Amino acid sequence: MSDLDTVVRRRHSTRMFLPDKPVPPELLDEALTLAMRAPSNSNVQPWRLFLATGARRERLAGALAAAVRADPPPAMGIPESHSHLRRQLGALVYGAMGVAREDTAGRWNAQLRNWDFFHAPVAGIVCMHQDLGFADAIGVGMFLQTLLLALTDRGLDTCMQVSTALYPEVAREQLGIPAELTVLCGICIGYADPTFPANFIDIPRNAVTDNVVVYDD
Ligand SMILES: Cc1cc2nc3c(=O)[nH]c(=O)nc-3n(C[C@H](O)[C@H](O)[C@H](O)COP(=O)(O)O)c2cc1C
Repeated sequence: MSDLDTVVRRRHSTRMFLPDKPVPPELLDEALTLAMRAPSNSNVQPWRLFLATGARRERLAGALAAAVRADPPPAMGIPESHSHLRRQLGALVYGAMGVAREDTAGRWNAQLRNWDFFHAPVAGIVCMHQDLGFADAIGVGMFLQTLLLALTDRGLDTCMQVSTALYPEVAREQLGIPAELTVLCGICIGYADPTFPANFIDIPRNAVTDNVVVYDD
């Protein structure tokens, strides 16, 4: 068992998985069981996950690819107030992939891997009941971070995805997600491709004082 600081620092987003290296079901079970310990408002445990491997995963990715071809996603909006961070991220990720800023086709090809869950053998969609609100979305986030850390601690790699949630109807149809659940995001779980340089970048963070105010008066 690693110490918490190491696991938190080791977790990062993987954008190219080894498609043929399966996730041992017992490791996934352990991580999910641990993540269920996450706190939530009134203990409603608002997270709902639909995970697919094997043929189901292939059908899901195939249906998403078809949806993207038929109706390409709009550029994912980030408010101007925060867009400098998106630009910094893009420069680091695409730079590590060797895709230049002006290479529109190269960027699109890299983006398309989102809808194949970056080739991860476990592809997931995260949902929450439509009657729940902001406080419960925090609970989903607490569950997800706990899950990512538990997976990282077991040698697995992960990526969260807003991109796969852009086609909620496809996810609903392929995974039998009921109408009362809101599709929030996707999740990829597997083992990182060690030959893909963009899997090894360290995305910088703000200084604590940019985000946290501590009064002591
Ligand atoms: C809710 C959420 C949605 C995300 N969506 C995507 C996505 O669609 N595609 C992607 O490549 N990365 C996505 N990410 C990964 C972020 O870009 C990444 O967490 C952030 O840049 C920090 O990098 P790190 O995870 O490597 O520490 C998402 C992360 C979160 C938490």
